[in-house]
Amino acid sequence: MRMVDIIHNKRSGQALTDDEIKFFIEGYTKGDIPDYQAAAFMMAIYFQGMNSQETAVLTKAMADSGETIDLSGIKGHKVDKHSTGGVGDKVTFIVGPLVASAGVPVAKMSGRGLGHTGGTIDKLEAIDGLEIEMSKERFVEIVNTHKLAVAGQTGNLAPADKKLYALRDVTATVEAVPLIAGSIMSKKLASGADSIVLDVKTGSGAFMKTMEDSEALAKEMVAIGNNLGRKTIAIISDMNQPLGFEVGNANEIKEAVDILKGAKVDDLRTLSLEIASHMTVLAGAFSHYDEARTALEANLENGRAFEAFRRFIIAQGGDAGMIDDTSKLPQAKFHLDIKAEEEGFVAEIDAESIGTAAMYLGAGRATKEDAINHAVGITLKKKIGDPVQKGDVLVTLHADTESPENAVQKVRQAYRFSPEPINRPQLIHKVIGD
Ligand code: URA
Repeated sequence: MRMVDIIHNKRSGQALTDDEIKFFIEGYTKGDIPDYQAAAFMMAIYFQGMNSQETAVLTKAMADSGETIDLSGIKGHKVDKHSTGGVGDKVTFIVGPLVASAGVPVAKMSGRGLGHTGGTIDKLEAIDGLEIEMSKERFVEIVNTHKLAVAGQTGNLAPADKKLYALRDVTATVEAVPLIAGSIMSKKLASGADSIVLDVKTGSGAFMKTMEDSEALAKEMVAIGNNLGRKTIAIISDMNQPLGFEVGNANEIKEAVDILKGAKVDDLRTLSLEIASHMTVLAGAFSHYDEARTALEANLENGRAFEAFRRFIIAQGGDAGMIDDTSKLPQAKFHLDIKAEEEGFVAEIDAESIGTAAMYLGAGRATKEDAINHAVGITLKKKIGDPVQKGDVLVTLHADTESPENAVQKVRQAYRFSPEPINRPQLIHKVIGD
């Protein structure tokens, strides 16, 4: 078998055989197939797609490319969640502690930023000392003791995805149903949770921009999970504007902590409660959704969820002082207000542009080698539906340079106004597989 023929077959729209897909994943993981052929292959898949059989084989081959994590040492029904990636998506920092506060173990493997979207691990590293790499034994011990641990993808967990994820990030090949499904589900299968709740984003800031594509992705992933013995459901949630008000790293941690301390940031709090409620029901902690939702809301109010977050931070070596007092998190040198030049109602905030602006400030990577600046980011002051007067602050940029012109321009391009009142977008579109 030759890789060039496999690329050619996919480029001309053929369905690949199981052996061709396995040949690629094994060869690329070992380093026998170079990045340039893998990049060409990803682009061919991007344009030609894959059918469900090809996607399932790709996913299984990626999951089998390395170790699978044995979580049998963790007591209880383990649930995991995964988002397909969005802007301002700090849901894991709220959902993890919430689910843990209900006594359900969360053993979370998370990734770094991808394209214009942020990554859980990059954000967590804004907290001094927090260790995201640890032995399996330590990971299991933390989950057993505190019900929550978050680790980066270790070298051996789905290594095919680790390499492909970094490659796709810089070759404009992220936004494809089989590639996203394979990437997410291979990690979920290799990391051993009993049940999985997927947060599939749809809209301008998501990799899948239309409901049709998002639903296709959700159905593909739910089928793969259930066929391989994991109870899987997908929530399709809106990403037509950033989630919450903060986009970056340290500032996203701050916003999540505010919610864990009882703040009522509407979309972020609602989506977190929705995901956490489904997770705890799948785990059997509650018999139905409404019961779960009421109990979890109470845990946001009574401080139990914040306490669960605090215990997890300390267990992983992080400085809890930074979440007790979030002004101790990294702070940018300059804060620049961008003001409205017209009046009206906010009709659109292109979330991808906001994510790209945050990346220009240094909150994300343009190349594999770039370092993250945890202090910089964006605070939205106006969201879709809000009335705006000329001169009102739309956004504050937190930057380490005095005039970050390219970020300012991107943010300006992101906002569109209407003279007529605008409804706020629906947050939760559908639940698949419930
Ligand atoms: N999240 C992942 O883990 N992989 C993708 O391809 C997209 C989002």
